Amino acid sequence: MKKTQWYKEVTCYQIWPRSFCDGNGDGIGDLEGVLSKLDYLQELGITCIWFSPLYCSPNADFGYDISDYRNISPDYGDNELFKKVLDEAHKRGMKVIMDLVVNHSSDEHEWFRQGIDKNSKYHDYYIWRDGRGKKLPNNWSSLFEGKAWEYNKENGQYYLHLFSKKQPDLNMDNPEVRQEVKDIMRFWLDMGVDGFREDVITFVSKREGLPNALPIPQACGMEHYMDGPHIHEYLKEFREVLNEYDCFVVGEAPMMTPNKALKYIEEGDGMELDMMFHFQHMEADCLFTDFLATPFSLKKLKGAFSRWQEKLYGKGWNALYMENHDHPRIISRYGSEKYRTESGKSIANSYFLQCGTPFIYQGQEIGMVNIDLPKLDDYQDVFVTNNFKTLKLLGFSDAKATARLKSANRGNARTPVQWDSSANAGFTTGKPWMPVNPNYKDGINAQAEMANPKSIFNHYKALIKFRKENPMAIYGDYTEHCKNSKDLYVYSRSYEGKRMLVICSYTEKAAKFIAPEGFDLSKGKAMFCNYDRNEITNNGFTTRPYETRVYVFD
Ligand code: GLC
Ligand code: CA
Repeated sequence: MKKTQWYKEVTCYQIWPRSFCDGNGDGIGDLEGVLSKLDYLQELGITCIWFSPLYCSPNADFGYDISDYRNISPDYGDNELFKKVLDEAHKRGMKVIMDLVVNHSSDEHEWFRQGIDKNSKYHDYYIWRDGRGKKLPNNWSSLFEGKAWEYNKENGQYYLHLFSKKQPDLNMDNPEVRQEVKDIMRFWLDMGVDGFREDVITFVSKREGLPNALPIPQACGMEHYMDGPHIHEYLKEFREVLNEYDCFVVGEAPMMTPNKALKYIEEGDGMELDMMFHFQHMEADCLFTDFLATPFSLKKLKGAFSRWQEKLYGKGWNALYMENHDHPRIISRYGSEKYRTESGKSIANSYFLQCGTPFIYQGQEIGMVNIDLPKLDDYQDVFVTNNFKTLKLLGFSDAKATARLKSANRGNARTPVQWDSSANAGFTTGKPWMPVNPNYKDGINAQAEMANPKSIFNHYKALIKFRKENPMAIYGDYTEHCKNSKDLYVYSRSYEGKRMLVICSYTEKAAKFIAPEGFDLSKGKAMFCNYDRNEITNNGFTTRPYETRVYVFD
């Protein structure tokens, strides 16, 4: 049985290292850069850092294709420097978790290279199959590019890759591979890291025989590897290692639902993961994946929020997030660039005060928005090529497909963090590996945000502080109100006699808010508002664009 509970109380910050801060002027973010910003994170109130992959990688998918699980990439530094970052973070009261990417490795990993030889023990580390005559081993597609199989001339076989062809899937059914995973976990835990974010972990067990799947575009095969036959067995095996350490794990889980999630995270002896990153609230303006756009629906968003809050309460723990390195900036999606600060704060209040552990993605705290680059290739996202083909299949013109993919592109979240108003937003003294959003000159940068008491940065800072000081914000129960509103998201939390009511508008139009029964606004303390005047009429108010308020009742 696990002892650790601190993971429920931390506020996490995700660093995507390539674009966080460059310490040596080569245009690529690195660990020297991270060291120089630890005080900044402490100032914000962060108590846990999640590093997207820092390991050696040929960067086909920027670190999510690992060629050496035990060494930090020379782009970022080395193991010694990482240890220093770890110690310095710990000194500042911050935990540190690593990304663990074990559904696949890089095709440049030693295991893969040696395993091309059918007689090598590493052959069975991956999923190799013969073709069916001239046909591929099965009809599955890659989530990133084309089919899920790549032919290798040297051994005449195909290997499976659910992501890019430079990311061959590991064969988790091989006990030696699972042993490697456990050894890798121990390697970093012994060094002192406090846990892992486990990349697409629910994909690691594939259906025996790898049968053909329903012929849907892009995700063909998914029913045979999502929550596959041995997933719970394997995660329980990994948990035994984790249980020897004071750590936590959060698993990334595409297509996850709360009922299925409880099989992974229900608290008790069988608990496999501490929490999960599901995607349901990321689908309020699209169908399953960002590039299949639909009009933004607040009802869809609220439905996802409440399903997870209600189903998990008292049983399992939620991971709360609105941004990461895989999605465009949230203000540009669910909010409004015109009302950047207002909508940024309304979005913040909507998720941050729910029950669960909040995550902030680099740049989210200063309200960074999408970038407009001339060509799709400029965004440097492997995911896009395939999506372009899918949209064409669906009948989109080149121009429409391009426009859609520009705003749905993962590169939007990967532009360098905007630190100040100096050249390249202070990210680097060299040439940035990816264009910096020119709007850093218009006040979208950390320095300006920190100096302005009414900024998004200072809003997050206050939220983090409040959460630290109020167990209600962490452990309180959750009730949604005004469920029928298309414009307002309203919820309350309560804990040991204390309550709060969170009101968030998702529109620039005026909407009428009347407090739900049992809440007398005049008796509450208004906090985390995004407008100066907080007048109340008839126990309610008419919202200004993206208005948000939180009323706290003692
Ligand atoms: C996860 C990562 C994403 C990566 C993919 C393959 O979804 O978050 O960035 O491309 O897995 O590793
Ligand atoms: Ca650098």
